[in-house]
Amino acid sequence: MIKDQKIYVAGHRGMVGSAIVRQLQARGLNNIVTRTHAELDLCNQQAVANFFKEEKPDQVYLAAAKVGGIHANNTYPAEFIYQNLMMEANVIHHAFESGVKKLLFLGSSCIYPKMALQPMAEDALLTGKLEPTNEPYAIAKIAGIKLCESYNRQYGQSHGLDYRSVMPTNLYGPGDNYHPENSHVIPALIRRFHEAKEKNLPEVVIWGSGTPMREFLYVDDMAEASVFVMQLDKATYDQYSEPMQSHINVGFGSDVTIKELAGIVGKTVGYQGQITFDRSKPDGTPRKLMNSGRLKDMGWQAKVSLADGLAIAYQDFLQIFD
Ligand SMILES: NC(=O)c1ccc[n+]([C@@H]2O[C@H](COP(=O)([O-])OP(=O)(O)OC[C@H]3O[C@@H](n4cnc5c(N)ncnc54)[C@H](OP(=O)(O)O)[C@@H]3O)[C@@H](O)[C@H]2O)c1
Repeated sequence: MIKDQKIYVAGHRGMVGSAIVRQLQARGLNNIVTRTHAELDLCNQQAVANFFKEEKPDQVYLAAAKVGGIHANNTYPAEFIYQNLMMEANVIHHAFESGVKKLLFLGSSCIYPKMALQPMAEDALLTGKLEPTNEPYAIAKIAGIKLCESYNRQYGQSHGLDYRSVMPTNLYGPGDNYHPENSHVIPALIRRFHEAKEKNLPEVVIWGSGTPMREFLYVDDMAEASVFVMQLDKATYDQYSEPMQSHINVGFGSDVTIKELAGIVGKTVGYQGQITFDRSKPDGTPRKLMNSGRLKDMGWQAKVSLADGLAIAYQDFLQIFD
């Protein structure tokens, strides 16, 4: 019975991991195993081997990772590549060693080339150069996909292995990281608009022209998609993927300009001042949108609108900082 399956969620205190735990529990899947970073350092091979020997889970969601925005990726490239490679290799290998048949690896849209055709489809992987600022992180994420595929190819038939990968677009929601320097665009904007409102500042200045377009997915939608992909029957998964191109994009399906995003965040927070753009600052890639057609064809689509998701995210921010 699926309800009896023991499920290990790696990274259960993170934004995505905690949403996956909520999603599993909402489906009555309560046999969940977790370890905090302090209890189990996933970079420590022996500790990971011991954990899997002891717990012997049936399924694994690999949502633990070293994650950060451009600043963090640029400042700590060694930590980003080393820790992510170690976590993936340790978890995937020892999951296999201990007999785990089903595993879901979480990657990121940054695996795609900087100049990939928009919207980016799964087959854009390894067709060009990556964005230099997060190349080390992206390389580690690509290695995670290839680890899953290689274990499937070598042991799929003999051991009944079925390791899958999902590539989320930019995520936001409860449990986000609001660090002033190391956060992603949505939590950074929530913090800035909130502080501007509190201090009655007349203006919030945003870097760049405001014209770049980005896609955002509410984290509980991501968790729902993760469980959907994990539980999808093998025949359907195989129909829409290939052994050496098995990853599935998870996006919202449409994007907004940074100007539009700033407007919605400002409104959500209740900021009354001006929003201006500093065009002397760099814009980054003009557009980054996932092609999530594969997942749609498999039967899943995002449900939570940006305005609704941001309203919940802001309440979460207030609980932490007010
Ligand atoms: N957030 C996004 O916008 C986004 C977008 C695309 C893809 N993703 C992917 O989604 C996954 C989860 O991201 P997230 O946003 O949930 O990140 P997060 O909030 O930073 O959570 C990551 C979790 O991993 C844990 N962790 C990190 N290093 C560890 C280690 N050595 N041993 C054990 N645990 C460790 C962290 O614990 P500590 O905090 O205690 O270190 C944290 O609980 C990642 O694979 C990420 O690439 C996220």
